[in-house]
Amino acid sequence: MRVGYYQFQPEFGAPGRNLEKVENALAGADADLIVLPELAFTGYFFEDREELNELAEDVSASRTVQGLTRLCKNNDFYLVAGFAERCRGRVYNTALVIGPSGLLHCYRKLHLFNTEKEYFDPGDTPLKTIAIRGVHVGVMICFDWVFPEAARSLALQGADLLCHPSNLVLAYCQKAMLTRCLENSVYAITANRTGKETRPRGELSFTGQSQIVGPKGETMAISDSGEEAVVVRDIDVSAARKKLFTENNDLFVDRRPEFYDI
Ligand code: ACM
Repeated sequence: MRVGYYQFQPEFGAPGRNLEKVENALAGADADLIVLPELAFTGYFFEDREELNELAEDVSASRTVQGLTRLCKNNDFYLVAGFAERCRGRVYNTALVIGPSGLLHCYRKLHLFNTEKEYFDPGDTPLKTIAIRGVHVGVMICFDWVFPEAARSLALQGADLLCHPSNLVLAYCQKAMLTRCLENSVYAITANRTGKETRPRGELSFTGQSQIVGPKGETMAISDSGEEAVVVRDIDVSAARKKLFTENNDLFVDRRPEFYDI
């Protein structure tokens, strides 16, 4: 299985141009699955709910979803992509899973970060895994990293690979994801964006450093903070299915949930 990410700088409020950029960057990519950043087509730092609502799309009539499906079909790969989703009067910070036959799954971010709480509705979709070419894929979005329950829930459902579209502005996530991988014995792809957004609410700088991490917490690839790049690595899914930490410790069997008050 060849998996990777596209780290880039989306242009705020320009979904058509961002889609074109993604199409150009990924045409001909030799991969089975590629992860894009959070909110990869709209940009991130919305002024208010009205602005978000205007830029968000309903998946059933979305030029972005149509374009990404065409891209998957033409290149025979799958995508996990951050997307501003409008649905029945609500707006969600969503990750789409799309393949050659179209949209397979929407995950709506459970743990909204900072000002996102003012304009997004909190996610209402369960954490679940999807099988793609024999690999069990779990999806989480950016700030979900700070709640280890998200990665753990996906791992307990059998996720081999966590796909993690992100728009990170703090410095902690990349290191924390090494632990999420180690404690669950899973692979993870954090696809972060680069660049700055100067908007009515202020300026945000995104930290890049997208990464692919292996089930022993090893960094298999990491980008610079500012570069735009498509990065792909081979993963051996059997390594994620070995939950033995020592010959006497199994990461899942040795849990003591009867003592955890959560
Ligand atoms: C974040 O959740 N975008 C930090």
